[in-house]
Amino acid sequence: ELSPIDTAKSIAAKYAVQFVEDGMRVGLGTGSTSAWMVRYLGERVQQEGLNIVGVPTSRRTAVLAQEAGLRIATLDEAKWLDITIDGTDEYDAELTLIKGGGGALLHEKIVASASDRMIVIADHSKSVAHLGAFPLPIEVIPFGLQTTRAMVEAMLDGMDVLGWEAVLRTIDDQPFVTDQGNHIIDLHLKRIGDPRHLALALNQVPGVVENGLFIDICDMVISGHGDGRIEVTD
Ligand code: A5P
Repeated sequence: ELSPIDTAKSIAAKYAVQFVEDGMRVGLGTGSTSAWMVRYLGERVQQEGLNIVGVPTSRRTAVLAQEAGLRIATLDEAKWLDITIDGTDEYDAELTLIKGGGGALLHEKIVASASDRMIVIADHSKSVAHLGAFPLPIEVIPFGLQTTRAMVEAMLDGMDVLGWEAVLRTIDDQPFVTDQGNHIIDLHLKRIGDPRHLALALNQVPGVVENGLFIDICDMVISGHGDGRIEVTD
């Protein structure tokens, strides 16, 4: 018996894999919702004998994909993708996303941007009127980490946000390390007034590799409810 939140995530994932067709190259997202998607996609491949190639957005997802019996490739091997299915931490009515809660935002953004279509799967609690309650992750290189953090905080002071605390993500008291060997700084902004301006400004700071705002990338959000209802926004 699944909890309401797991029901919501799993039905969204199951609905989304129906958009995958034989012969497609598919970007595979990261996180607990994407884990359901990888499992369901594996089931479809086994049952229907589909010829598809998956491009994982993280090492974690690569392991899950292999366990599910999916053929995987790197993005450069696949070159271009037909579809990417991934989770999110927040989405708004414009289908702007905050991603990176799982720390995979850099590869997720590259893979989604190299896809004809990005479908996001979520439980309905990820839907927000204004982005920013969820801390916005940015990926930064290890060199000059604290200097980069200070420069980001100084820049945020002049932005249309309600908070500007920049917190280095740690795990067991050590900086969290991404698949790319970088670190994550979580920006506690409370409310983001102008996501487009903020995303551009963040990527201008030396040392910042990428930010978790996905703007004009997502084409459709499939959100599940605990009672089995599904909502599609596109
Ligand atoms: C990973 O870096 C994130 O972008 C995930 O897509 C996001 O955290 C969603 O995770 P869940 O599906 O576990 O909520």
